[in-house]
Amino acid sequence: MSKHEIYAETAAQIEAVLEGETDRTAQMATVSCLLSQAFPDSYFWTGFYIVDPARENELVVGPYQGTLGCLRIPFGRGVCGTAAAERETQIVEDVHAIPNHIACDSRSNSEIVVPVFDRSGKLIAVFDVDSTEKGTFDEVDKDWLERIVASIFAK
Ligand code: SME
Repeated sequence: MSKHEIYAETAAQIEAVLEGETDRTAQMATVSCLLSQAFPDSYFWTGFYIVDPARENELVVGPYQGTLGCLRIPFGRGVCGTAAAERETQIVEDVHAIPNHIACDSRSNSEIVVPVFDRSGKLIAVFDVDSTEKGTFDEVDKDWLERIVASIFAK
């Protein structure tokens, strides 16, 4: 199956499992689990950093699959903090080539971070996927991940 086909199948599965479920933790855990299972070779770390309602401009780790993640990331720091500050998806082909990267696990070599908005357009989290290979993520991942998080969190 192509990457596009795997995303299409997984997006449908996520929507089916989460039909009627409004709890954010259940939604984030399900999205992390099903996507990381769908791409076992490229999704090394898969999960959410949530905008902390108690601390302005800080992300705190949410549901994820993978090795131990950093707990907190200020807006503007690292790839996740940049995605949160700019409200734009970040694709990084080689994390070691950028000065701003936060190395939670040195095995990560490339990543994509997608901002997550609620229905009102408020930023609620970012969705972060790290790969052990360089240059794993492209516009196909960006399009599908943006579509999947919008279908669940901006509904
Ligand atoms: N790589 C991220 C930090 C989070 S983890 O890798 C789990 C970043 O630079 O934002």
